[in-house]
Amino acid sequence: MPASKFAKLRDARVLLLGGTSGIGFATAEASIEAGAIVTIASSTQDRLSSALSKLKSAYPEAAAANKIHGHICDLSQPESLEANLKALLEFATNNNTHKLDHIAYTAANVPRLPGLVDYQASAIKESILILRYDAPIILGKLAPAYMNQDPRSSITFTGASTATKPTPGRGILTALGASTEGVAKGLAVDLAPIRVNVVAPGTVDTELLRALAGPDPKVQAGFKEMLKKVTLLNKVGEPEDVAEAYIYLMKDANVTGAVIHTDGGRLVK
Ligand SMILES: NC(=O)c1ccc[n+]([C@@H]2O[C@H](COP(=O)([O-])OP(=O)(O)OC[C@H]3O[C@@H](n4cnc5c(N)ncnc54)[C@H](OP(=O)(O)O)[C@@H]3O)[C@@H](O)[C@H]2O)c1
Repeated sequence: MPASKFAKLRDARVLLLGGTSGIGFATAEASIEAGAIVTIASSTQDRLSSALSKLKSAYPEAAAANKIHGHICDLSQPESLEANLKALLEFATNNNTHKLDHIAYTAANVPRLPGLVDYQASAIKESILILRYDAPIILGKLAPAYMNQDPRSSITFTGASTATKPTPGRGILTALGASTEGVAKGLAVDLAPIRVNVVAPGTVDTELLRALAGPDPKVQAGFKEMLKKVTLLNKVGEPEDVAEAYIYLMKDANVTGAVIHTDGGRLVK
C-alpha cells in the first residue's frame, strides 16, 4: 500500500506558542492526532504542567512515543523576548539538530483597550503590543535558522475577524488585528520558501473570551448571546473547529501570505 499522500503531519515537528489553552491547545490536540511531534510553550510553569498533563493523558500513545513536549517562554517582556524565543527554538529542535516543520502562534493576553474618546498617546499596554507585534516579528527573524527551508514548512499567526470588519465602539481593535496581518504578509515575502499565513477567528469560546466578559457567569452567557447574533450561523466558534484552519495551513504547501477566516459567517452578515 502506498504511503498516504495526506498524512503530511505524521512525525512533523510542530511548535505552538500559546498552546496551553483555547485555540492553541486545540491545535496541539489536532497536531498530535495527526501524528506530529509537538512542543507547546507557556509563560508559566503551572499552566505548562497542567496543559502537558492533559495532553499526555488524552494521548497516551503519543506521550509514550515521546511526541509531546513543553517549554517556558514568556513573550511579554521586551528585554527578555529575543533570548526567550531563542531558548524555546533551541529546546524544540534539540539544539537545532532536528529542524521544525511548522510553528503556530496563538499567544495573546486579553486586549483591554480604551475607547476612542478616552484614547491617549501610548495608551495601549506595552504587553498587548509586544505579544501581537514585536514577538511575531522577532519570531520571524529567529525561526528560519531552526526550520526546514522548504514550502512544506510554515508559520501561522493569529489575527481576528475585527481586522476586516470593525466592531462598533471597538475600532482600535481593528488596528491590532490588521497589524498581525501586515507582519505576516511581510514575513511571507522575506522568509520564502517558508510559508507565512494568518488565521482570523471570529469569536471563539476560550478563556480569553470569558476573561473579556468578566467573572460573572450570567454576564458571560449574555455576552455570548450578543456575539452569536452578529454571525450568520448564530454561534460562537469552538476551538476544535478553528484549530482545523491551522492544520490546513500547515498542510497546504501552496498557500502563503494568506488570511483564512473562520468566523461563523460574521463577515458576510
Ligand atoms: N477567543 C476569541 O474570541 C478570539 C477572537 C479573535 C481572535 N482571537 C485570537 O486568537 C488567539 C488565541 O486566543 P484564545 O482565545 O485561544 O486565547 P487563550 O485561550 O487565552 O490562549 C492564549 C494563549 O496565550 C498564551 N499567553 C498569554 N500570555 C503570554 C505570555 N506573556 N507569553 C507567552 N504566552 C502567553 C497563554 O499561555 P499561558 O497563559 O500558559 O502563558 C495561552 O496559551 C489570540 O491571538 C486571540 O487574539 C481570539
